Amino acid sequence: MTYQKILLAGRPETDITPDLFTSVREDIPTISAGEVLVKLSHVSLDPAMRGWMSADPNSYIPPVDIGATMRASGIGYVVQSNNDDFPEGTRVIGLMGLTEYAVSNGQGLNKLPDDIPAEAVLSVIALPGITAYHGLFEVLKPEAGQTIAITAAAGSVGSLVGQMAKNKGLTVIGIAGSEEKCTWLKDELKFDHALNYKDADFEQQLAAVANEGIDLFFENTGGIAQAPIYNAMNAHGRIAVCGMIAEYNKTEPAPGPSWINIIKKRLMIQGFTMPDHFHRISEYGQALGGMLAKGELTYRAHILKGLDSAPEGINLLFKGENQGKLIVEL
Ligand SMILES: NC(=O)c1ccc[n+]([C@@H]2O[C@H](COP(=O)([O-])OP(=O)(O)OC[C@H]3O[C@@H](n4cnc5c(N)ncnc54)[C@H](OP(=O)(O)O)[C@@H]3O)[C@@H](O)[C@H]2O)c1
Repeated sequence: MTYQKILLAGRPETDITPDLFTSVREDIPTISAGEVLVKLSHVSLDPAMRGWMSADPNSYIPPVDIGATMRASGIGYVVQSNNDDFPEGTRVIGLMGLTEYAVSNGQGLNKLPDDIPAEAVLSVIALPGITAYHGLFEVLKPEAGQTIAITAAAGSVGSLVGQMAKNKGLTVIGIAGSEEKCTWLKDELKFDHALNYKDADFEQQLAAVANEGIDLFFENTGGIAQAPIYNAMNAHGRIAVCGMIAEYNKTEPAPGPSWINIIKKRLMIQGFTMPDHFHRISEYGQALGGMLAKGELTYRAHILKGLDSAPEGINLLFKGENQGKLIVEL
């Protein structure tokens, strides 16, 4: 019996194009001592995959080798096991790649309960949730009464940051790239304000809703919204730099705002990458699972069907056409 997997065939100069991947079929592998065979049910498509495709020596994680299975996180069941920690039938999550089957020695695999839908795991408990949780509570340290601005607010990470901030008593300003997303943020997630950064009068709209300034900024994008939010920061504000998706496909970085205000306003800006904090996954996962069970968090999953949808599907993230966590169902 054979299975499908998607290999990295080239490195992007700018946009991700389908020719950078090759789809292959191979015999389902046999496992050695200590190994397990996992049959995947869902894989996650994330903006970070753009970085993993590039040969950037300064990245926080090594690039995927040309010819190797493209790195991606996924969920599946152990279907064969030579590893007592992961008996047959165990549901697992890990960086198993764009593939229908994966062999693992158990390192980097985490067990999952059977009763949480895959969409909820990949949208809330996995990378988006732990990123939102760490960036909000560990980096920004929010206090009730503060005002927070969030870019890519209708995205997987941003939508969770905003809900947790709202639940903590902050005024939440979400920034997104379409009217549909802004309506979802206001009507469903109860954000105080939702602004479309593509509107010609975005800066005036921001000034009107942030008339008492912005205390916390959860930055997911860079691009148009960054400078107006930065300029509206209050003294002693804090900025968590989580992502720069507006920059990932560019060859040259955009000119930045003047950093003089970091001094004048005593701002704290901190970048963070989740692999540095993976030892806290179970702590964060329990907190997120508790919030989900109590109905404090809503998510929406954007499901694509079949592994062949991945190479082109990942571009939905860069065009803003994903409505919720982008997941491939196998
Ligand atoms: N630091 C970490 O460890 C870590 C971990 C996970 C994710 N991240 C980062 O967090 C950010 C969000 O990731 P996610 O998984 O939650 O993705 P997401 O927000 O669900 O999807 C990406 C969204 O980014 C927006 N976007 C794309 N191009 C843009 C542009 N040129 N200008 C402004 N917005 C643009 C689009 O929304 P609109 O329609 O609103 O434009 C798109 O839907 C990414 O930058 C990602 O790299 C960082």
